[in-house]
Amino acid sequence: MSPSGKYPTDRLPRVRLAHLPTPIDPLPRLSEYLGGPELFIKRDDQTGLATGGNKTRKLEFLIAEALEAGADSVITAGSTQSNHARQTAAAARAKGLEPHLVLYAPGEQPPENFNGNLLINHLLGAVIHWTEERAPYSRTIGQVEAELKAGGKRPHVVPYGGSNATGLMGYVTAMIEVAEQAETSGPFDVHVFATSSGGTQAGMILGAHLSGLEGKTRLLGISVDEHRETLAPRVARLAGEGARLLGLDWQVEAEAVEVNDGYLGGGYAVVGEAEREAIRLLARLEGILVDPVYTGRALAGLIDLIRQGAFEAGQRILFWHTGGTAALFAFTEELGISSQQ
Ligand SMILES: Cc1ncc(COP(=O)(O)O)c(C=O)c1O
Repeated sequence: MSPSGKYPTDRLPRVRLAHLPTPIDPLPRLSEYLGGPELFIKRDDQTGLATGGNKTRKLEFLIAEALEAGADSVITAGSTQSNHARQTAAAARAKGLEPHLVLYAPGEQPPENFNGNLLINHLLGAVIHWTEERAPYSRTIGQVEAELKAGGKRPHVVPYGGSNATGLMGYVTAMIEVAEQAETSGPFDVHVFATSSGGTQAGMILGAHLSGLEGKTRLLGISVDEHRETLAPRVARLAGEGARLLGLDWQVEAEAVEVNDGYLGGGYAVVGEAEREAIRLLARLEGILVDPVYTGRALAGLIDLIRQGAFEAGQRILFWHTGGTAALFAFTEELGISSQQ
């Protein structure tokens, strides 16, 4: 599955960071337990870079762009436990660039516990700039960029979530990868995944178009933090920008973007019973870990939809594990785990 020159993405600058293709495995015990469609999992948590995840695919294109621009440092932003920020820091280190992370912290005070992704950021030697600003963190990113430039550095900004036309190419190529894998594993009726800043879903939609899967498979994003009215147009816009980067005259309508915002629970990173159940079920039935913020929430949505009868028994569903496992270690209390159990 090396670039064959068959697709326009093969001509883009790209550095190797991920272990690809990631496996597709069946989930026989979870499928049986739920008694609905046949479930499979795409292991994008196994992309390999400092505990992996979906951003590693995006960073293959984003870091290549930084290197082409002659950068010596990279700036990106995210929540306190951002998986994207951690993968960007690791990718930057792997390519000899200095990582700067703008991370959210109430009162701009670093958290007491440097656990989960923060622990990894620390080990990677990322320079952290705490901010109270919320996504997309543009003002603080601008400040850090100006400071670095004033100090003689050549920073390159990777947007929050890695979600721009360049970054989403990681999921255009991921969808092409799945189309090729499906030739042996069989096709999937529905793809289910966590969606947030939108680049993953936008890339998948454009990748489905390029690989001939458009209209043959559903791409169902379970939103972890945004309402459909905000996220679907953003995904459509990003997919169109990606198409233009590839020189294609193609656009998807926001109405055609499937975003389910029925599982926002108590808000971003607020762990509820649904996430706790999903995390335990996958761990105890399949030995696979998902995180409470993204993949646990998306899985909880999928489980609920199956229980509601939203899919037919013979359907084949591919659940994309987009990573986030490192964040698990920052959520002991929220997962209801104590030494008394
Ligand atoms: C584990 C995980 N899954 C899914 C997503 C959502 O991807 P996107 O921001 O491209 O919508 C993220 C984003 O941070 C993530 O960390």
